Amino acid sequence: MINKITELLKEINSLTLQTAEELEQYRLKYLSKKGLISELFEDFRNVAAADKKDVGQKLNQLKASSLEKFNLFKAHLETTQDISTGTDLTRPAFPHIIGSRHPISIVRNEIINIFTRIGFIVSEGPEIEDDDHVFTKLNFAPEHPARDMQDTFYISRISAEDSNPGDILLRTHTSSVQVRVMQGEKPPIRTISPGRVFRNEAISARAHCIFHQVEGLYIDENVSFADLKQTLLFFAREMFGKETEIRLRPSYFPFTEPSAEMDVSCRICGGKGCNVCKYTGWLEILGCGMVHPNVLESCNIDSQKYTGFAFGMGIERLAMLKYQVNDLRLYFENDIRFLDQFKTAF
Ligand code: DAH
Repeated sequence: MINKITELLKEINSLTLQTAEELEQYRLKYLSKKGLISELFEDFRNVAAADKKDVGQKLNQLKASSLEKFNLFKAHLETTQDISTGTDLTRPAFPHIIGSRHPISIVRNEIINIFTRIGFIVSEGPEIEDDDHVFTKLNFAPEHPARDMQDTFYISRISAEDSNPGDILLRTHTSSVQVRVMQGEKPPIRTISPGRVFRNEAISARAHCIFHQVEGLYIDENVSFADLKQTLLFFAREMFGKETEIRLRPSYFPFTEPSAEMDVSCRICGGKGCNVCKYTGWLEILGCGMVHPNVLESCNIDSQKYTGFAFGMGIERLAMLKYQVNDLRLYFENDIRFLDQFKTAF
């Protein structure tokens, strides 16, 4: 009997357990009611009285150390989370780190949403454009300073001194898409064109060489300045809240006549004056006007029959106001600490 016990003890000590299944085999073989240790306890009854004390001690030792091995390995399995141990499958999974939309995309989508609800469709044009679509057909005089190298990134210029309709450049505004739409479609036209634009500016908190605009165009018979005003008022209230007021200030753009710049009442102070609106109560958000007859004619639209309005706004500017971001560069640096803050927006 003593021999049997010592052999079993040796056997148990030399065992290595690795999986939950092996642990269960171990339990059945040694520790269960029908296991080898129970069997030995049965045999213990027949041990001669004189040996009982000695054998009994050894047997208890065997039982204790085999149990200890069982418990130790069980605890080990639980902490290393071997899935075969019947780990709690209802435990919540590790959180998945999901990304967020870029603030520029959020604001662009919001603008698109508002205008598509009142019948505008989305149209796009190329970022690499020619002088004709960006300037000439939009009634820019040949010597207009916007064509200057200081502002425009030229890809190829036909003549070093003079601009030419065939010059290839990066578009400086999305108004070029107006021209493409008017050339390709017949009125009524109601379209917005979001996109990237490029200007040769030194990068700072307030300026960047790449930014985004949304252009709007509405051409039909009898379109008036009142239509422009109501459309933009609707937009401003959808975008900034029902209480928002708008103000149109006379301005100049070559492609519109009359032209205006639109301000919205400051949403931060409600018009009372604060440092965001520089204590004026108003924030400038876009340029607009009635499409110049020269522009209609250059795109083969009868300016006697049709009139229209156009507007253009900078997405970064709107996003800055909406989220109170004070440095344009943040939009382009892709710093995860900045982008992470837009998780709840969509
Ligand atoms: N294209 C102008 C800009 O880049 C913005 C603009 C002003 C667009 C008036 C328009 C408009 O369509 O009517 O600053």
